[in-house]
Amino acid sequence: MLSIVAVFIAYWRSTNDCDSKTAAPAHPMKAIRYCEYGSADVLKLQNVEKPVPNDDQVLIKVRATSLNAFDAGVTRDLWLVRLFFGLRKPRDTRLGQDLAGQVEAVGKNVTQFKTGDEVFGLCRGGLAEYTCTRERALAIKPPNLTFEQAASLPLAGLVALQGLREGKIQPGQKVLINGATGGVGTFAVQIAKSLGAEVTAVCSTRNVDLVRSIGADHVIDYTKEDFTKSDQRYDVIFDNVCNHSFAERGRVLTPKGICVLVGIGGAGVKEGQAVGRIVNNLFTARVRSSFTNQKFAVYGIKTNKQDLTTLGDLAQTEKIKPVIERTYKLGDAPEAMRYLAEGHARGKLVLTVP
Ligand SMILES: NC(=O)c1ccc[n+]([C@@H]2O[C@H](COP(=O)([O-])OP(=O)(O)OC[C@H]3O[C@@H](n4cnc5c(N)ncnc54)[C@H](OP(=O)(O)O)[C@@H]3O)[C@@H](O)[C@H]2O)c1
Repeated sequence: MLSIVAVFIAYWRSTNDCDSKTAAPAHPMKAIRYCEYGSADVLKLQNVEKPVPNDDQVLIKVRATSLNAFDAGVTRDLWLVRLFFGLRKPRDTRLGQDLAGQVEAVGKNVTQFKTGDEVFGLCRGGLAEYTCTRERALAIKPPNLTFEQAASLPLAGLVALQGLREGKIQPGQKVLINGATGGVGTFAVQIAKSLGAEVTAVCSTRNVDLVRSIGADHVIDYTKEDFTKSDQRYDVIFDNVCNHSFAERGRVLTPKGICVLVGIGGAGVKEGQAVGRIVNNLFTARVRSSFTNQKFAVYGIKTNKQDLTTLGDLAQTEKIKPVIERTYKLGDAPEAMRYLAEGHARGKLVLTVP
């Protein structure tokens, strides 16, 4: 019992790098940090120490990075976030999971990249001039993509690619993408098309033309029509929003259809609702999949170099084209985050690093 209390106290008292009162960094770089939880205003551009790669890491000079729903989630002042990321304050103050840039240095065990390579991939702390990451989280940047386009690919592209794979899509199958115009949705529409599916995109009125332009065969405007009330049946539902019950989605799935649950917290729900919804989604998905021929798959992203390379190839051959609504400078991260948190960005929000 005493040890549990001790662990709790240590956890409670844990500090972050904003607490250190040391002199100016010896090798400074600019980076976005969040020293406390809160709205987008807690994001600050700071001078911090440039990271040094360990033996298995690659140091990258970041040229562009992009925001994801995850970034808006971890900065929020919610008890669930505090439980996982630090009780009093965030233990790790870095932000940003996507990057595109140039290799600056490599650790001694790194074999697949060398100084000067142009790369894109996943990291922790992409909102910075430099960051370190593992080589399996990186791939060579397709030469026809700008750094901004490449930075929009990693997380959202992987979620779309790997999530659709859970759906086991066959050419000609009917696939519905709910939440088709955000970061994940715009890639999901294009990847499903490249797999030969007949794609129905669900979005709001202002995005109807956008989803048509990226290849959707049919569009449902959710402000006018509820897709779960139609007579149409889908082989795969790729659900970024999860704002319908299992029964409603089951009704529009074919008898052996697959529903891939990507946004299990749901878009724009309040804290209490989000926790309940996550638990309900995890539990009900398992139960329903056990007792019916329809499958509800809860999906979580896996870092995978081969999939990053596949995304790069799809972009190189223009089977997918990144949709970037707005580009910001690194120092404007709070403004970008404010817009992302509204939950209606069209495609990706990218930040450039000078
Ligand atoms: N499982 C994983 O590993 C994983 C990884 C990353 C992200 N995610 C989750 O995936 C989801 C999507 O991420 P994202 O980056 O694409 O978010 P995003 O860029 O913020 O996009 C959200 C989208 O939801 C749409 N939307 C909002 N309300 C809707 C409604 N009632 N019906 C249909 N669409 C609606 C918005 O379109 P309109 O503007 O047209 O309303 C917008 O396109 C998030 O819930 C995120 O947490 C999961």
